[in-house]
Amino acid sequence: MSKWTFPILGDDSYTGYLSPLAQLGANPTTHVAEVRYPVQHAPVASVVKLLPTSGTFIGNEGLAWLFLRGAGVPQPPKAAVLVLSERKATDALGSAKLVKPYVSNKRVLAWASERLNHRSISAVFAGTKGDRKWARLMCTVEGSAIAAFDEAFYNIDRNNGNVLYVNDESCLPIDNETLFGLHDWTAGPIPSTVIESHTLREIRACHKKRYLSTSQMASMYNHIAHHAEKHSHVLATVQQDMAQLLGQLYGPKSAKMMGHVLSFLAARTAQNWMNQRVGVL
Ligand SMILES: Nc1ncnc2c1ncn2[C@@H]1O[C@H](COP(=O)(O)OP(=O)(O)OP(=O)(O)O)[C@@H](O)[C@H]1O
Ligand SMILES: [Mg+2]
Repeated sequence: MSKWTFPILGDDSYTGYLSPLAQLGANPTTHVAEVRYPVQHAPVASVVKLLPTSGTFIGNEGLAWLFLRGAGVPQPPKAAVLVLSERKATDALGSAKLVKPYVSNKRVLAWASERLNHRSISAVFAGTKGDRKWARLMCTVEGSAIAAFDEAFYNIDRNNGNVLYVNDESCLPIDNETLFGLHDWTAGPIPSTVIESHTLREIRACHKKRYLSTSQMASMYNHIAHHAEKHSHVLATVQQDMAQLLGQLYGPKSAKMMGHVLSFLAARTAQNWMNQRVGVL
């Protein structure tokens, strides 16, 4: 049996536009469509969003999905990169949405993930209620796993809209476009100067606003450090899949890119790195 590889799918796998998104975010191309993933005949309703063809957005989504899967963090179980013809994307979305950054050489890149029957925290809880909910959810096993991931991968855009609310004890990460501080690892190394991820800053802000007590914050840091203990092992197990994904997306230049990603992650997944980061000894 051939080895599983991260799905990079073409026009044939995008079997049809279904509907606009109930609550559109910043990306006007995000919609619901049927996607046929490998080793499955029935199309799966998926959230599909076009991403700029240059830069790291699409690669970041794939790298995140592979790592989170390796770490056993619940997330949309099916995901793929779609490489669609401009014609296919125009038929689905109309030409007005296919603005320049999304089209290159008559090709369009999109990220597809199985649509789950959950809405983002911000869709369920408006305004500061959403902030409080995310603060409390970060105290859960899944929420603290997301926070640990965000810090290791230097995600600068984890917010209420990028976490699906399951219930008060459970949530799932989506939208991992903005990893590595949005540094362009396709072009060069990621600077190792460390700035906090959005998530750690958020935790401190929530503590300041008294959404979290000091003991809740301390216990959250312990959970984050606990998840991070597994990170170097997870990286070792998913590294080959990551390299294979970048190889498919970027061809021979990908080895160098993978080097940039790996040296950054090796430092941030090393034993004790997170402990020092969150002040847990
Ligand atoms: N797999 C999924 N299952 C269910 N809903 C999803 C899924 N993926 C995304 N969504 C919904 O679609 C919204 C937009 O998705 P996502 O955040 O990935 O894209 P976006 O358009 O880049 O949003 P923004 O730029 O505003 O953050 C999410 O807030 C969420 O409500
Ligand atoms: Mg989003």
